[in-house]
Parts: sequence; C-alpha cells; structure tokens
Amino acid sequence: MVKLVAAIFIASVISSSALAKSNEEQAQAVIDTRQGLLKVVGFYMQPMVGMVKGKIKYDAIVVEKNAGKIAELAAMLPDVFAPDVRNSGLLSDSLDGAWEDRADFVEKARNLAIRAQVLSDSAKASNIMPMNKFGDMGKACKNCHRAYRKK
Ligand code: HEC
Repeated sequence: MVKLVAAIFIASVISSSALAKSNEEQAQAVIDTRQGLLKVVGFYMQPMVGMVKGKIKYDAIVVEKNAGKIAELAAMLPDVFAPDVRNSGLLSDSLDGAWEDRADFVEKARNLAIRAQVLSDSAKASNIMPMNKFGDMGKACKNCHRAYRKK
C-alpha cells in the first residue's frame, strides 16, 4: 500500500511538472531528446573512427560492443523522431522530410540498425577492422543525413 501511494505520488509529480512546462519548453525537450540520442550514437562511433584512421589500435571487443550499441540506438530513432514539433518554430538540424517521408525515415533507421549489427557480429571473428562492414554502416548514416539533416 505504501509502495502504491508512493508510486501514485511520484507519477503525479512527474506528470504535473510536465504539464507546468510551456509548449515551447516541451518542444525544446523533444528536440534535445532526439539530438541527445544522436550524440550518443556519435559517442559510440568515435572510437571506431579512431581505429579506422589508425589513431587507436583495433579492438574487436570495443567494435563488437559499440556497433551493437549503435544497432540498439538506431532502433530508438523512429520513437524520438515521432513527435513533430516543427510548428514550435524552434530550430534544429532536421529537415521536414523526416516527418513528411516518415516511412522512408523509419526504413533508413532500420537499415542502420541492421548494418551496425552486421559489423558487431563480424568484429568478433576479425583481428582487423572489417572495413566493408564498417563502410556499409557509415553509408547508412550518410544516406539518412543526406535526406533528412541540414548540411
Ligand atoms: C534515420 C536517419 C538517421 C540516421 C540513420 C543517422 N542519423 Fe545522425 N542525424 C539525423 C538527423 C535528422 C539529425 C539532425 C537532428 C536534429 O538536429 O534535429 C542528425 C544529427 C546527428 C548528429 C548531431 C547531433 C547533435 O545535435 O549534436 C550526430 C553526431 C549524428 N547525427 C551522428 C550519426 C551517426 C554517427 C550515424 C550513423 C552511425 C547517424 N547519425 C545516423 C538522422 C540520422
């Protein structure tokens, strides 16, 4: 009972603070969330770019893990891009197509998830960076940026 009351209390605090936010604050939070997710994608990408450039020694365990994380994060992209806050007038680097061509956007996210998983799986069995798999994953980033991200 105490737990239930506590849970209701916490839920009400969370929802009332969400309600107290202005529309603009809520729209900004939506933008921050999607940009934040993409920053995390970049965070897991960075060490692998370092390895490709020869600045960091190839580490199969790191590539397996980081590419696996990118696959998981890619699956979240359609969710964080679901809210359409373009009418808030707030600026972001997303292009309108991300909402107008939603099915294609979702497909491009799915494509990244698949290719990142393939890289993760092949890293296990390789003692050098599987460059073709890495390149395929990088193309999945580029394909979506070219279509839906401002230059
Ligand atoms: C399904 C589409 C899609 C895919 C796939 C995708 N991105 Fe993006 N990315 C975007 C969009 C759209 C933006 C601009 C977001 C905004 O500002 O609203 C963006 C922005 C970013 C940013 C800037 C985030 C910030 O605001 O600081 C980084 C970093 C990034 N992407 C890295 C990557 C990497 C690395 C990959 C591949 C591993 C990737 N993205 C794949 C759509 C995508």
